[in-house]
Amino acid sequence: MKIIVIGSGGREYTIIKSLKTNPKIEKIYALPGNGGTADLAENVDIAAKDIDGIVDFAVSNKIDFAVVAPDDPLALGAVDRLHGAGIRCFGPEKKAAIIESSKVFSKRLMKKYSIPTAEFGVFHTPEDALKFLDYAKYPTVVKADGLALGKGVIIAQGREDAEKAIRSIMADRVFGDSGNAIVIEEFLSGPEVTVLAFTDGKTVLPMVSSMDHKRAGDGDTGLNTGGMGTIAPNPFYTEEIAAECMEKIFAPTIDAMNAEGRKFRGCLYFGLMLTADGPKVIEYNCRFGDPETQVVLPLLETDLLTVMEAVENEALADVDVKFSKKCACCVILASKGYPEAYETGKEIDFGNVSVLEGVTVSHSGTKLENGKIYTSGGRVLGVTAVCDTLEEAVERAYEAAGMIKFENKYNRTDIGKR
Ligand code: AMP
Ligand code: GLY
Repeated sequence: MKIIVIGSGGREYTIIKSLKTNPKIEKIYALPGNGGTADLAENVDIAAKDIDGIVDFAVSNKIDFAVVAPDDPLALGAVDRLHGAGIRCFGPEKKAAIIESSKVFSKRLMKKYSIPTAEFGVFHTPEDALKFLDYAKYPTVVKADGLALGKGVIIAQGREDAEKAIRSIMADRVFGDSGNAIVIEEFLSGPEVTVLAFTDGKTVLPMVSSMDHKRAGDGDTGLNTGGMGTIAPNPFYTEEIAAECMEKIFAPTIDAMNAEGRKFRGCLYFGLMLTADGPKVIEYNCRFGDPETQVVLPLLETDLLTVMEAVENEALADVDVKFSKKCACCVILASKGYPEAYETGKEIDFGNVSVLEGVTVSHSGTKLENGKIYTSGGRVLGVTAVCDTLEEAVERAYEAAGMIKFENKYNRTDIGKR
């Protein structure tokens, strides 16, 4: 089989690495890939948002299966277009990807189908949103409706912050059309849990739980990022909570999407908060998380391609999806300054990291030039360790992270230590 994987981050690196264990696969192309995927697959210089380019490439190279991993191409309808060209895919069609690409849609869906989430209001003009602030309780949460590179959520500590957020999203339009509407919602507190789930629209199979560390600095300080590290499983997510989430959140979400004529097939990302009133949905994503994937897929014992094909064929009920009982920790090595300005183009020295047992280094923002690997992004590498206990996984991941050297290297020192 010939496969294309769309995207260029650590998530895509990890997906390719996992797919590669299947002997049915003769060739994997990464579109566009990165310095690390160049070693596992063949990189093709087609951007993830270039839907025409992706479809042309898939058709002319007789691709058997496409994995569309990032939010942008899913929201742009890459899967619909590939299906239209007769290519089987893993990922939701555009009408289902809206569960991530519009927060107004997802909040209204949860309200209509009684899925627990924060109380909220939807606003289409800055005037209406500002008026509502007279009644808001602080902190309050302001969210741009559309995709905003993970920066569209502002926790406003007081009215001044909230006004600033509304003006920048709706009047200054810092996220463009993603700010045509906003959601203002109740601030929730409690441990956060990510649950990725395979679903074919009939069966929903939650994967092992995980915990992201979204803030740039130790002790959850600093700016929000795409994620600075992850652990799996999430120690706060007990079997009782998992059962409650299945009953009140996971199954009802799949049913709700079907009832709306938006059958979801792919990986559905549940961002949950375990509040004093029970688990509530903070956000849905229509894809694997990054860097959650870097700790979840290494624990998957079932062949990934088999699961992905079963999702596409709506035969997930026939597959026994198994996870290892081990624990994983991923520490992100970033370019100092991320998520704001940072320098790139620094050569990476991997030291002796490959000798460490249970360690995988996934590439995110790297490029290959004349046989050498250089930094090319904010999040550069993800260092994942899989061990029998969480403590060992954390220790091993940090041991490995310390062996890798590049100028301007930055990482959090407290991943998995909460
Ligand atoms: P998102 O971009 O939707 O992943 O949100 C980024 C982060 O903002 C989440 O991981 C939460 O930590 C935080 N957040 C989002 N919504 C809320 C909320 N209603 N209450 C408290 N924190 C929130
Ligand atoms: N790590 C958060 C996300 O993938 O959205």
